Amino acid sequence: MADTVKLLSLDVTSDASLAALRSTLEEGPPLRLVIYTAGLLHAKEMAPEKRLSQVQRHNLSDSFQVNAFGPLLLAQAVQTCLPKEQPCHFASLSARVGSITDNHLGGWYSYRAAKAAQNQLLRTLAVEWRRRLPLTCVSLLHPGTTATDLSAPFQANVPAERLFPPSRAANHLIDILEGLEPEQSGSFWAWDGTSIPW
Ligand SMILES: NC(=O)c1ccc[n+]([C@@H]2O[C@H](COP(=O)([O-])OP(=O)(O)OC[C@H]3O[C@@H](n4cnc5c(N)ncnc54)[C@H](OP(=O)(O)O)[C@@H]3O)[C@@H](O)[C@H]2O)c1
Repeated sequence: MADTVKLLSLDVTSDASLAALRSTLEEGPPLRLVIYTAGLLHAKEMAPEKRLSQVQRHNLSDSFQVNAFGPLLLAQAVQTCLPKEQPCHFASLSARVGSITDNHLGGWYSYRAAKAAQNQLLRTLAVEWRRRLPLTCVSLLHPGTTATDLSAPFQANVPAERLFPPSRAANHLIDILEGLEPEQSGSFWAWDGTSIPW
């Protein structure tokens, strides 16, 4: 029988949508690879803040919904679908700007803080899953600057060799996951396989 790809829709800010996904996935085989790729940096009435006066409560809230709460709530939704006795990866796309140690430039309050929160939430998840799902490796991944809608307004000063096509960025990240063992769960990696400080 030919392999089939089944597309399911999901709004990561909706509990009902996450519950529906969970019900559907529970009918299928265990998951071996889950990657959270949703992210939010800018939208129609939302731009990354350059200064404090631009900070708005609803932008902070929207950013945290997608960039921080989303991956944790997806983990909650898929937990019963992950295998206990086989290796498995749960990865989420974070961003280097979420590193508190690496924050020398400032700006982008909502996105930075939401990615830092994502890192802490998934690090905490990794500690819990070490007991519940010891063969599952939780990873936070920085894809590098990638030519997508998210980075489109900020690509002007990025050297061409540092602006990855999405397929190349995806291959980098799959290579990283393939080299990780469950003992390395709860780590933050850049596209080139180097570890990023929290
Ligand atoms: N591109 C870069 O240079 C770069 C650098 C560092 C980190 N990242 C991270 O990499 C990840 C992927 O980013 P990207 O560059 O692929 O961005 P993108 O092209 O803007 O894609 C973001 C995706 O998130 C989805 N999304 C947003 N809100 C959602 C929601 N409520 N429910 C479900 N899906 C939702 C969007 O779906 P719709 O299209 O349906 O809205 C879109 O498919 C993000 O976490 C981003 O922060 C990207």
